[in-house]
Amino acid sequence: MKKVLVLYYSQSGQLRDVLASIIAPLEKSAEIDCDWRLLEPVEPYPYPWPFYAFFNTFPEAVNLEGCPVREVDLAADYDLIVLGYTVWFLSPSIPITGFLQSAQAQTLFQGKPVITVIACRDMWLMAQEKMKGLLKDLGARLLDNVVLTDQGDSLYTFVTTPRWLLTGKKEAFWGFPRAGIAAADITAASRFGRRLLEALRDNLEQGEKPLLGKLGAVNVNGKLIASERIARRSFMIWSRLLKNAGAVAGSTGRNLVITIYFVFLLLMIVTVVPLNILLRRCIYPFRKTAIDRAVTEYEQPSGR
Ligand SMILES: Cc1cc2nc3c(=O)[nH]c(=O)nc-3n(C[C@H](O)[C@H](O)[C@H](O)COP(=O)(O)O)c2cc1C
Repeated sequence: MKKVLVLYYSQSGQLRDVLASIIAPLEKSAEIDCDWRLLEPVEPYPYPWPFYAFFNTFPEAVNLEGCPVREVDLAADYDLIVLGYTVWFLSPSIPITGFLQSAQAQTLFQGKPVITVIACRDMWLMAQEKMKGLLKDLGARLLDNVVLTDQGDSLYTFVTTPRWLLTGKKEAFWGFPRAGIAAADITAASRFGRRLLEALRDNLEQGEKPLLGKLGAVNVNGKLIASERIARRSFMIWSRLLKNAGAVAGSTGRNLVITIYFVFLLLMIVTVVPLNILLRRCIYPFRKTAIDRAVTEYEQPSGR
C-alpha cells in the first residue's frame, strides 16, 4: 500500500476542488492511501477579504515571511507529497510559506518526491520559482507542477478575481465571465490522477523524471512573462516602502501607503499596462526565440 499526502491551504475551497479532482482516481484505488491535510494559520486570514487586510499581506508575501501555522498530524512516511498552493502577490500564499519554513516541514520533505498543484488567477511563474527554492532548501525532489488558472482573458480576470476575493461574488456580470477556474477544467484535472495511479503502480515516483508529461499540466503564456518580471521588481520596491511605513500589518502608516499604492496600481492598469501589451505585441516577432526559450524553462518539470 502506498501513502500519498495531500497538503494544501485554500480559502474558498477552489484549490481543494482541484485537488479532489486530481486525487479521485487514487482514492478509488485500494492500492493507495491518501491523507488530506488542510494547513491552518494560527491567526486565520479573512475571506472574503476586507480591502486593507488584502493589501496588508503584500510585503510579507513578497518577502517570503510565512505566518505560524498549526502543527499537522502526519504519518511516519509518505511515498509522495502533493502540495497544493495558491499565489499571493506573485509568491506562494503566506500560510504555505509558513509551513515550508517550519521545523515539521524539515523532516517531512527531506528526500521526498513532490508534485506542486497551483490554482490561481494566471500569474504564477515567479511564485513557482520561489517555491522551487523553498523545496530545494528542504531537500525535496520536485517531480511535476500542475497549474489551473481562472477562466477568461487576463484583462477580464483583472476584474473578476479581485471582485470575487473582496466581495465573495463569483457569478458572471456585464459581459465578464464567472470568476475562478472553469468547472470543466477542474473536472478534466482527473487525467493527472489517472496517470499518477499508473506511475505509483510502476514505482516511478522513486525516479527523477516527471510523471505528468504531455498532459497539458502547465500552459505558460509567453506574453505574460515580461509583465511578471516587471511586477516582481516593482513589488520588491513597494514591499520595502510598505514595511518602512509600518512594520506591523494594519498599522496607520502602512494603510496610508497602501492607499497610495492602490491609486498607483489603478493608474498603471489604465495607462502602462495597455501600452505594455501593445509594445509586447509589436516586439514579439523579434523576441520570439528568447520568449520561446523562457516559456520552455518555466514549463519545467512537467512541460506541456
Ligand atoms: C492576497 C492575495 C493575492 C493574490 N495574488 C495573486 C497573484 O499574484 N497571482 C495570481 O495568479 N493570483 C493571485 N491571487 C488569487 C489566488 O491565487 C487564488 O486564485 C484565490 O485566492 C482563490 O484561492 P482559494 O482556493 O484559497 O480560495 C491572490 C489572492 C489573494 C487572496
